[in-house]
Amino acid sequence: MCRGRPGGLLGPPRAGRGARPVRRGAGAPRRTLRGESPRSPPHRHAPVAAGGARPPRGGNGTGDPAPRDQRRGRRGDGRPHPRGGRGPQRAGQRPRPAPQPTAPGGAARLRRPAQPRGRPGLRRPGVAGSHHGRRAVGLGDQVMTADTLRIGVVGAGNASRFHLAGWRRLPTATVVDVVDAVPERAAQRAQEFGVTHSGASAEALVGSGAVDAIDVITPAGTHADIVEYALARGVHVLCQKPVAETPDDIARIHAAATEGPGRLMVHENWRFRGWFRELRRRLDADELGPVFHLRSSARFAGTVTTPSHPQVPFSLARQAFFADMDRFLLLESVIHQLDVTRYLLGEPDSVYARTHSVSERVRGEDVATVMLGYPDATAVIDRSYASKGYPDPPLLSETVALEGTRGSAFVDSTGTLRVVVEDGAGRHEDVTPPEPDAYGASYARAIASFADALASGAPFETDIEDNIRTLRLVFAAYESARRGEPLGREEIDATVPVPLTAHDRGAR
Ligand SMILES: NC(=O)c1ccc[n+]([C@@H]2O[C@H](COP(=O)([O-])OP(=O)(O)OC[C@H]3O[C@@H](n4cnc5c(N)ncnc54)[C@H](O)[C@@H]3O)[C@@H](O)[C@H]2O)c1
Repeated sequence: MCRGRPGGLLGPPRAGRGARPVRRGAGAPRRTLRGESPRSPPHRHAPVAAGGARPPRGGNGTGDPAPRDQRRGRRGDGRPHPRGGRGPQRAGQRPRPAPQPTAPGGAARLRRPAQPRGRPGLRRPGVAGSHHGRRAVGLGDQVMTADTLRIGVVGAGNASRFHLAGWRRLPTATVVDVVDAVPERAAQRAQEFGVTHSGASAEALVGSGAVDAIDVITPAGTHADIVEYALARGVHVLCQKPVAETPDDIARIHAAATEGPGRLMVHENWRFRGWFRELRRRLDADELGPVFHLRSSARFAGTVTTPSHPQVPFSLARQAFFADMDRFLLLESVIHQLDVTRYLLGEPDSVYARTHSVSERVRGEDVATVMLGYPDATAVIDRSYASKGYPDPPLLSETVALEGTRGSAFVDSTGTLRVVVEDGAGRHEDVTPPEPDAYGASYARAIASFADALASGAPFETDIEDNIRTLRLVFAAYESARRGEPLGREEIDATVPVPLTAHDRGAR
């Protein structure tokens, strides 16, 4: 059976794919992400990346589905900042160590330093290279070599479709099994994506020796047990956000990732959205000058009924577990905006938040505003699932505005990026439309980033230590909202009291 990998986000398959083994391990040549030549010029009035992928249709994860509105982003006045140029330590202007492996139109090769934790890339004794009975099944006409990355998907719910679609785009990996606590769900998802094997137990999957890595897409409360079990047995893990709900579970996961031998990447896909990769590239090129303001806003009617969803609100129909989360919006959704803000501006010095629980149908907060303080910049993040009069379903992207001393950048709700620079030579404006299937593309980029880092031995961009920095902002926001006052850096760090060994790698 043909699995059919369309030439989407990652471009067309390599000629002769399947006939040629793909080497992995620390000594293997670094792979070029298909369709992203290092020599390609930056996009101007062109899609962020060549598209054409065929994702599963309908829905998304945290209530941010396909675009349906063509509104333009707001315009800024573009006036220069009165204080003029800034030094290199300003928000968003920190030197970044490496080109993004998936930056649209930018550098395509991984140029990161060798794996710093002394763990080998992918191979591990007793598992990699083993040939067990299930290895060649479910592949149809796809040739699986000894170096094909064998993936087990754990959790066959709503978000799993986007993961499976993402894996399908990656020629060097294949999903060999899908498991879910509800086996019928696993079987259905496996059938949908042409995966022959399905089951009910993550532990059995890990213990089978059939997989090199698992992709965990279960509710956050289940992650610590699954991740610990897999990493200790040398099975690598890509784990959906939030990686855990409590500091204790986060500490367990951090310890397991530190001890290995398996490696862990957190699936925080928002920053892998095409417009944020492009925005990061433009900050690296210093197009906007030092940034002094970021605004990120997403409001819609997801936990309240509307004429189009009169019985069950949009988000609760799609992800019923939202209703029972004691901590809902910050932990489940604003976490993405906080991570993107770190990705663009770096680590803030302070967090101030206010939250509200508006809908009686959810236990936790469904409206939140967070202000992040930087020495010379402020980020204001707001999100609401309880705002009548706003769209339901929601739009593709939160609207984002970034203001620097030379210009501003605007992401509108369709994912279109508009950059306006005003200097002595006049006003320059250019627009980068979103790539096709932009929602699915962010999953595929995160997945490709995971596979690339396993192959090269490079650090994961969103490893557990990076993600803890985002989680600290989430927990600090809860604490700030509870106390009604801002938290400073030391208090932010104390929310997840885990010693971080990795240096803060640049502006994220
Ligand atoms: N990054 C994103 O944009 C995004 C989008 C959606 C969801 N998510 C995250 O993905 C995760 C899953 O979300 P979802 O919407 O798919 O939820 P879901 O409820 O639709 O699916 C979760 C599935 O996990 C299964 N499951 C629960 N415990 C299990 C266990 N121990 N072993 C195996 N299977 C188990 C359930 O039976 C269910 O089928 C959550 O952490 C969520 O926050 C992220």
